[in-house]
Amino acid sequence: MRKLLVIGIGAGNPEHMTVQAINALNRADVLLIPTKGDEKAFLADARREICDRFLTNPACRIHDYAVPVRRADGSYEDGVQDWHRAIAAVYERTLVNEVGEDETLGLLVWGDPMLYDSTLRIVEHVRAAGRVAFETEVIPGITSVQALCASHGIALNRIGLPVQITTGRRLSEGWPEGTRDALVMLDGVQAFRTVEDAEADIWWGAYLGTPHEILLSGKLAEIAQTISDTRRDAREKHGWIMDTYLIRRPATESEEGAA
Ligand SMILES: C[S@@+](CC[C@H](N)C(=O)[O-])C[C@H]1O[C@@H](n2cnc3c(N)ncnc32)[C@H](O)[C@@H]1O
Repeated sequence: MRKLLVIGIGAGNPEHMTVQAINALNRADVLLIPTKGDEKAFLADARREICDRFLTNPACRIHDYAVPVRRADGSYEDGVQDWHRAIAAVYERTLVNEVGEDETLGLLVWGDPMLYDSTLRIVEHVRAAGRVAFETEVIPGITSVQALCASHGIALNRIGLPVQITTGRRLSEGWPEGTRDALVMLDGVQAFRTVEDAEADIWWGAYLGTPHEILLSGKLAEIAQTISDTRRDAREKHGWIMDTYLIRRPATESEEGAA
């Protein structure tokens, strides 16, 4: 039976690679690495560096592939579905044509595969199509959420209180119900600017774990403009940006009592 290893590689620092992830990397007969096309050069370089540093299996075959481009026309959902189908076709072709019956294919996933990543869903498309049989094993990785909290030296949650992990797009539509703590990822719209609460605090981080890491924290109302300016300047300088942040609003007395 073929095997598919879905390996979490951490969120930017090669040293996020766990011992389990390094061992999994070296169990792979074939590694499928997105290095061309839509994939940002930095993400491709980070994967390449991980292989250079940790891959000790000389027999491992590395296959590069161009990440299919996501269609911008039509609905967001249709665009994502088509995009996933195109990536599923790459995985399937690789399993069928490049990976022997008893061999192992490794996929390197940014951060952890369980967090805002579709690799596991795409793998299920390949399985459901039924044209190639394989077993899947998932290796957890350090997420950008962990990297953010570690760099700021903060705990993600307050005692007994929930945290909502959400996207910039959702936050821009309104504060999430049932929580006073929101961890925001995938924010292309600077949704933190839509939160109107003079008491809210923010812990913001960009390029976490990389040599370009930037951290800002304080009262949201006081530093929102600084974050916007820093974000714009960094984006211009590096040509891309990835940022994540936690916004914490004061809990109501009943929430604190319940906790
Ligand atoms: C498609 S999601 C992938 C998340 C990933 N699976 C994880 O575990 O962190 C991409 C988003 O993760 C966040 N992110 C990932 N790496 C980051 C980093 N090094 N610094 C800041 N944010 C990061 C950003 O919000 C980015 O828009």
